[in-house]
Order: sequence, then C-alpha cells, then structure tokens
Amino acid sequence: MSDIFQRYCSNLEQRLAGVADEEESIAIVSEEVLPLLEDPSFLTEKLAEMAEGKTELLATDSNDVTLYRSSQGLFSVRLFVWEPFVPYPVHDHGSWGLLGCLTGEVLQTKYRRLDDGREENTAHLEETEKGVLRPGETGKIYPLDRGIHHMESGGNKTALTLHTYGAPVRKGYIRGFVPHRKTTYRIFPPKYGPRVIGLNALSSIPTAETREVFDRVEKEGHPLMKEMIQLIKSARL
Ligand SMILES: [Fe+2]
Repeated sequence: MSDIFQRYCSNLEQRLAGVADEEESIAIVSEEVLPLLEDPSFLTEKLAEMAEGKTELLATDSNDVTLYRSSQGLFSVRLFVWEPFVPYPVHDHGSWGLLGCLTGEVLQTKYRRLDDGREENTAHLEETEKGVLRPGETGKIYPLDRGIHHMESGGNKTALTLHTYGAPVRKGYIRGFVPHRKTTYRIFPPKYGPRVIGLNALSSIPTAETREVFDRVEKEGHPLMKEMIQLIKSARL
C-alpha cells in the first residue's frame, strides 16, 4: 500500500492507543483521514490485485474490502464499493467509525429503533435522516442500535467510501434489518457462513443425531457457535 496510507495507519496506531472515548477517537480519525480523501489513488495497488484475481474477500459484506487491521486491535480500515443499482441491507456496526467519501455519491439513510431490542428477530425502525455524501465529506458511525443505517450509490456510477472502525464491542456478526417487515437477522462473515447455515438447516430436522451435533458444537466452546446453539435451543432463531 502507498506511503500516504501507511502513514495514516501508523499515525492512528499511535494516536488511538489509550483513547477510550468514542468521540475523541472519531475526531482523531477525522483529522488524519483528510489527505486520503483528497486523492483515492492510494487504492490503485490493492484494487489492481483484486481485479487480477490475487485477493480473497473475507469480510462480512461482499462489498467490504479490508485494507488494514491494527496490530494492537485498535481499529480497522476498509474500502466499501457501492455498485450502482445494487441493493444493500440496512445494518448496524459493532463499533464506532468514520466514513469518508472517495469517489461518486453515496446516499445514506439513518434509523432509530422504536422497540427495546429484547426480541431476537424483531426491530421497529424509524427513519431519522437522509443525506448524500460527496468526495471529501465524512460521516460518523456509532455502535449497535445507535448507528443503524443504509447506504447505496447515489448515481449510475460506482462510489467508493473509506471506513475506519474502532475495536468492536460485539464481535462475529453485524445485524441486518428489514424495516418494512420489522425483522432483523445476523450477517456473518464468510468464514462462519457454512457453519451458521448448517446449524440453522439442522434445526429444521430435529432428530437425536441433530441434537448430538448441537452438543458437539456447543462443547467446542466457540462463543459465537455457543450463542447460535443457545438461540436454536430456545427456538428464537
Ligand atoms: Fe455501514
């Protein structure tokens, strides 16, 4: 990756260390990200690798390209690619973040939650804000229910946004929302995808053998898989 991007990451490694306050963290990122937003050519090398089939995507969303992960676990930097006319889900994030528009126009809609969030699959959302982000403009992201939003390309061209997220308070998945149905679902990264689909599918075939599989998976002690089994057992999935 280019010098300008490496400098961004090393400055954040230094400046975010020991900062616990989310507003202070977002302010630091807002300051550091400006040179990157002025010239998106720092991405060329990475995008060329992708275009030439030399990378593998392992993020939660297929349009999410991880550019950097803090060696101290403090933050990650991602590129989001918003293809025109492609629908993307309403979702939340597990951490604070700052997004900046690099190219094109991105429409962002923000929501607030009207229910108390106690029902695993239910969410009543209300639209609170609609806006357009243009190159050089930034927007804040807040964790969990405080940051439910939807993004899409605002025109007929691919738009690019650069996102910097803090350490997640909830790991393993983000939450997707279907506002008109008042429902939610979990969006898992590809590495968990087959496991989650397998567990969900098995829950519809309740035999003694299925229960043995659930017990085996539960005994692994993987926090996310354990939570999935508990949700299946309480029939809330
Ligand atoms: Fe997002």
